Amino acid sequence: MTARFVCGECSRTFPLTEIRYRCVCGAPLEIARATVSIEPPITRALFDARLGDRVGAAGSGVWRFRELLPPLAPEHIVSKPEGNTNLYAAGAAGTGGLRRIGEYAGLATFDLKHEGENPTGSFKDRGMTVGVSQAVALGAQAVACASTGNTSASLASYAAQAGIPCFVFVPAGKIASGKLAQTLAYGAVTVQIQDDFDAAMRLVQDACVQLGIYLVNSVNPFRIEGQKTIAFELLQQLAWEAPDWIVLPAGNLGNTSALGKALQEARACGLIAQLPQVAAVQAAGAAPFYRSYATGFTERFTVIADTVATAIKIGDPVSYERARAVIRATAGVVTTVDDAALLEAKAVIDRAGIGCEPASAATLAGARRLVAAGIIPPDARVAGILTGHLLKDSETTAAYHARAGVAGPLYANRPLVVDATLPAVCAALEPYL
Ligand code: F0G
Repeated sequence: MTARFVCGECSRTFPLTEIRYRCVCGAPLEIARATVSIEPPITRALFDARLGDRVGAAGSGVWRFRELLPPLAPEHIVSKPEGNTNLYAAGAAGTGGLRRIGEYAGLATFDLKHEGENPTGSFKDRGMTVGVSQAVALGAQAVACASTGNTSASLASYAAQAGIPCFVFVPAGKIASGKLAQTLAYGAVTVQIQDDFDAAMRLVQDACVQLGIYLVNSVNPFRIEGQKTIAFELLQQLAWEAPDWIVLPAGNLGNTSALGKALQEARACGLIAQLPQVAAVQAAGAAPFYRSYATGFTERFTVIADTVATAIKIGDPVSYERARAVIRATAGVVTTVDDAALLEAKAVIDRAGIGCEPASAATLAGARRLVAAGIIPPDARVAGILTGHLLKDSETTAAYHARAGVAGPLYANRPLVVDATLPAVCAALEPYL
């Protein structure tokens, strides 16, 4: 069988040459590719032998796993290359601030994969290299997405590299300025919708149909395929010893969906022996998926989202069905963290010298909560995903540190203002020595 779109609900299939995001029954589509008959056969050694590749798409932490991705001709691939992000030992094996992250979570083994180290500063680049390559293969006249900021920055960059016109829909005044600046700088036509992300998401889907634009949100199965490689690369960095748990932030639920699909494929191909459990963490003010989980997924909820973590300020996630299947298949859990817990966890990650944007810190705050609740045992082997770079949202970071003082947040670090004389400088530094 060649690769095809397959409906997760009714099992209808469609060729990948069609422009499709959903099945005729309305359910999201997945891309299925037979992995047993693939040449060369999929083995750990196949991917390990490519670790030295550094040139072009062959050096990408996405395309290294090409046999597990939709087939695309080399001339259509738009790559920077992306991936190859660091895995930080943040548990007892770590040093300094990294070790303190594990202590904060209550975990002895805690490895953090920093997807903020991708070319545009977020994990979105992994899905985007596949989504935009398919746009090139289809000869798309233009591409579009709705975004809380990172998808738009990533799409704008890859579309510019491919030379394809790009439209992004963002909620006006509700995305971090670093992300808006990237999107504008890469030349995307930026449509600020006077409403929230969920409204922008609904509008972009309709506009794409009306105007014949190729949609590159994670409803597009090609995006999910690229995002799977976070898991493949993580497993490879762990020498194919699957962790017990993988913890990640959850908003529109594309990443949760991709992670679960990747883990199931990795097990089906014999790359790993058992499935890790997936823990999806939502901001308490933007937790429709958690509310559904709390009912045993008997009901689907939507909310008006509100959280300091603008990347995951989403009330009606488009990949709900796929993510629900992942939580079920991996005996996973969904939890929430409030904004204060999220910002404190972010400060702990920042202080370790690696840093992340607010949404990413849901991983640490969520792990800490699940350990404290006895759901993740302290001796479990846990991996966490950090999704975006510290500099994406410098306003939130600066505001946190500006609140230093007795009633200020725990880790606030206000700059010293010092007269331009040596005695003044020495007097200012002495208390820290
Ligand atoms: N972390 C960051 C930094 C994100 O930007 C996002 C999503 C998520 C986590 C959640 O991932 O949506 O797959 O569950 N950002 C999207 C965007 C919505 O438009 O950039 P998810």
